[in-house]
Amino acid sequence: MQRQNINNKIQRAFSQSAGQYDLHSSLHREIADKLFSQVIQESKPSALLDVGCGTGYLTGKLKDFFPQSLVIGLDFAQGMLEASRLKHENITWILADGNNLPFSKGRFDIVVSNLAYQWAEDLSHAFSEAKRVLASNGVFACTLFGYNTCHELFQSLDEASGGALQFLRLPDQGKVRKALADSGFKNPKVDCEHVKIEFKDMHELITWFKSIGAPHLPREGYLGAGAVSRAASIYREKFFYLQGVGATFEVIRVYAKE
Ligand SMILES: C[S@@+](CC[C@H](N)C(=O)[O-])C[C@H]1O[C@@H](n2cnc3c(N)ncnc32)[C@H](O)[C@@H]1O
Repeated sequence: MQRQNINNKIQRAFSQSAGQYDLHSSLHREIADKLFSQVIQESKPSALLDVGCGTGYLTGKLKDFFPQSLVIGLDFAQGMLEASRLKHENITWILADGNNLPFSKGRFDIVVSNLAYQWAEDLSHAFSEAKRVLASNGVFACTLFGYNTCHELFQSLDEASGGALQFLRLPDQGKVRKALADSGFKNPKVDCEHVKIEFKDMHELITWFKSIGAPHLPREGYLGAGAVSRAASIYREKFFYLQGVGATFEVIRVYAKE
């Protein structure tokens, strides 16, 4: 699939999910809360940017904590920004692509991003953009879902399709570290945590993906109804967890200085 098509699909899917995103994104909020705790250790910033702000949960918390600071939330999905605008009036919301930030060099003391960079086509370029807009000694703190995220789903679909499907997988820690080094961040800290969540079955997991705007696991190939049901059986047999099935989310955390 062409990269531009993938980006358009991601953008459209997030826009469409905006109305129900908050109902289904408690995992994202938990991850954002830890990022928030880390960032508020910094001395009072005059300007902050949240890249891929979604419905503005983290952006709003930052504005509440730093009321005197300029806080900007940026997202490329119009629907997400509309939802954000309804909730927070004193924040500047900008529709733009995080891969091409519409700001001058050194504009922000802090750039944050929660769970948005994992789909960047060129992570080094995306991180370079974050670095470019950071002021001297500014802080870049972000999280991304990593390669092992939902490995159970990928394995089940792969087995059910006899290897006929090819998925666009998320970046691993090595790729994230390399992209940070390529972008010129010195001594970035990168760590990783695995969170396992119970779903009733594979279908419930896929429905959840749709509700948070990640419906189109970008892929080459088609999986018929029979193969989908085979995949669900494989998933249940191999990844039984508590009363249902387990899905692993690998959360990569980055903290770097300009
Ligand atoms: C999983 S949501 C996370 C939203 C929010 N940060 C949160 O923690 O709830 C990912 C968000 O990143 C946005 N996004 C993904 N790629 C982007 C890009 N290249 N430029 C701007 N926004 C992007 C999506 O539109 C979506 O709102």
